[in-house]
Amino acid sequence: MTLTLPSSADAPDQTEQAVQRIRQHVGEFRPRIGMILGSGLGGLARAIENAIVIPYAALPGFPQSLVEGHAGEVVLGRLGGVELMCMRGRQHFYEGHGTTGMTKAVRTMKRMGCDRLIVTCAAGSLRPELEPGRLVAIKDHINLLPGNPLIGPNDDQIGPRFCSMANAYDKDLRQGVQDVAQALGLPWAEGVYVAFSGPTFETAAEIRMMQVIGGDVVGMSTVPEVISARHCGLRVLAIACITNLGEGIGNEVLSHELTLQYGSMASVDLQRLIVGWFEQQAATAKR
Ligand code: HPA
Repeated sequence: MTLTLPSSADAPDQTEQAVQRIRQHVGEFRPRIGMILGSGLGGLARAIENAIVIPYAALPGFPQSLVEGHAGEVVLGRLGGVELMCMRGRQHFYEGHGTTGMTKAVRTMKRMGCDRLIVTCAAGSLRPELEPGRLVAIKDHINLLPGNPLIGPNDDQIGPRFCSMANAYDKDLRQGVQDVAQALGLPWAEGVYVAFSGPTFETAAEIRMMQVIGGDVVGMSTVPEVISARHCGLRVLAIACITNLGEGIGNEVLSHELTLQYGSMASVDLQRLIVGWFEQQAATAKR
């Protein structure tokens, strides 16, 4: 089988076209924070004030096919007093389009004016004490996907050929969200995210391997988006919502339905946390 990985330099003007299309809807509105919402976590978009909604289908370079639980639309508006651009739904590696499915969307957020990106995702837990429903701030990752969105010719206007992954999950943003979690009385944890291709869930042996190599949570997304974001200079905060224990740790039979079910249970906490974090970001900006 030949795997064709689209290069990061394909159709460079698509990002500009997407920006122009969005501008037709929002005029001079300038989002400061970008957000990507994962499986079952899209409810947060309903809390956005003065929302303007644009389907991905209208935006060049945005993902055009999405799995169940992903709406496929951009929502621009305000949350906690901050202008934001939110993506409801993402494309995953397992859908068959390589790792660049979200790269142009991430670059569009940057071109629209964002300097921070918050990513949420559903994840399996590699630690029995991190139970379903818990929220975990990602502090680093291990990329087990057979690819990297920056493979191919590099556009130096966007970012460097060899991009550092130091502080990829911004320490200050993580400290900020931890303060918010504590103020809200939410249990808090940080962990290393292992990216696995899917679409199968991991075997029990793969879960044991991930524990040995230093993982705390596992999921099928996030890492390509974070790499794309760091490349174009966005600061990143990523929150995983635990929907299940990894295979072999618990007794439940894993399924996408379970992911959606626990995702929507935890989304109440996630929403409080994220709104609180946006308020904190607004307050910091005023100082
Ligand atoms: N593995 C990979 N991805 C996931 C899982 C899991 O157990 N749960 C939610 N997303």
